[in-house]
Amino acid sequence: MKNIPVIMIIFGGSGDLAHRKLYPALFNLYEQGLIHDNFAIIGTARRPWSHEYLREQVKDAVHEMNTEVNENNLTNFVNHFYYQAHDVTNIEHYVTLKNLAEELDGYYSAQGNRIFYMAMAPRFFGTIAEHINDQNLTGNGFNRIVVEKPFGHDLTSAKELNRQITASFAEDDIFRIDHYLGKEMIQNILPMRLTNPLINNIWNSETIKNIQITLAERLGVEARGGYYDTSGALRDMVQNHIFQIITLLAMPEPKALTAKCIHEAKGELLNSLIIPNENEIAAHFVRGQYLGSDMTFGYCQEPNVAADSNTETFVAGEVKFAAGPLVGTPIYFRTGKEMREKKTQIDIVLKQKSNIYGQAHSNIITIVVDPEMQVYITINGKKISASGIRRQNLIYQFSSSEQKEIPDGYERLLHDVFVNDSTNFTHWSELKNYWKFIDAIESAWAKENETGQKPEQYLPYRMGPKAAEQIFDLPTEHWIYE
Ligand code: BG6
Repeated sequence: MKNIPVIMIIFGGSGDLAHRKLYPALFNLYEQGLIHDNFAIIGTARRPWSHEYLREQVKDAVHEMNTEVNENNLTNFVNHFYYQAHDVTNIEHYVTLKNLAEELDGYYSAQGNRIFYMAMAPRFFGTIAEHINDQNLTGNGFNRIVVEKPFGHDLTSAKELNRQITASFAEDDIFRIDHYLGKEMIQNILPMRLTNPLINNIWNSETIKNIQITLAERLGVEARGGYYDTSGALRDMVQNHIFQIITLLAMPEPKALTAKCIHEAKGELLNSLIIPNENEIAAHFVRGQYLGSDMTFGYCQEPNVAADSNTETFVAGEVKFAAGPLVGTPIYFRTGKEMREKKTQIDIVLKQKSNIYGQAHSNIITIVVDPEMQVYITINGKKISASGIRRQNLIYQFSSSEQKEIPDGYERLLHDVFVNDSTNFTHWSELKNYWKFIDAIESAWAKENETGQKPEQYLPYRMGPKAAEQIFDLPTEHWIYE
């Protein structure tokens, strides 16, 4: 692997994301030689840390993820870390940061290459982007920016943020990160669809009855009430992760396996995204909010959540496209906090024709993304001793040694940023269409709120509100994963 020269500046260097995800991932990439001699990482945040303190934090972060660490490598790695206390609104601090980056560039021969990583509270993204531009922080080599979600709060604010970022960065240099696109089974969707005639030949609206996507979480909002109450499940999970999954499932075959062709195919699909009207939203969307139990708070009692909050912790809905292989096919989704268990699963339900054996079940292709990673196809065959038909699963799965080889999503995606591969990042042409859809739902819900309508309440650790069982187009449809 190449040793890529670069100075990386992480805004939010003292934060949870940097600690849990970025530092361990960067260490693994260092051990693989992707970054090695010619790099430095500047962590910035408000706290008055020293270089030494940051280095200790990075060591801790790596130890927490990995018990078998080569301590020599780790010490060499953390010596490339520098800390710069920084107030994002203070222009002078950008000058200091620029000078430090230039000094380190000379010291490490980083060839003027810069990666900026926005890993802090999203309300600061725009300000940081503006000052990267007006204080000229970019280097004279490559310049890339990685932006965490949420990218905006609606289409208008996303456009404004995009304007601020594109003042210094070309679209190809903007890496809007969505960690679901780094997951093994999500990256497996296109190869699985396209390399198997068994699957590819049936990937059309004549054969597929519906697709169902479940992103269930066991945890509640925990310490994130302040952020979550301004976001809700629709913006937190659907606008990004669920829509990216839907796009991979419904996009036409790209002309080639390049980032450009993949984004073109996604863009083509998303231009045909059908924005539901208010009647359709009322019929096919459900928002919910978890109640408390003896042991747990209800959502409205969580810290930093408004006591009369209408923010949804669960949403179920339907997406359709006017073009592409799945034209008109309903794609149902649901996601929620405090559901029965952590489960990320996609069920592709095939249509069943009547046949001489009577009513047999449909075939279902199930992709389990988390916590297991597998694909299984439910097929029918004869019962052994009685007449009739039974169901069995054909399974595609990983051995335990293969599972150990699967890198964390962040490691994969950071690797892609270093090697300039934007395939698994969100392009603006995708994002703007996602926001159009989300804005339509949010505006319908805002009207409901005005009439006093609230999210459906649901008991914790079940499968969400009852009403979510009624969102289907046909009475013969139901959730497969229940
Ligand atoms: C994040 C959301 O993007 O994804 C969180 O902000 C959510 O609310 C998380 O818990 C889920 O990710 P994963 O990988 O655990 O399914």
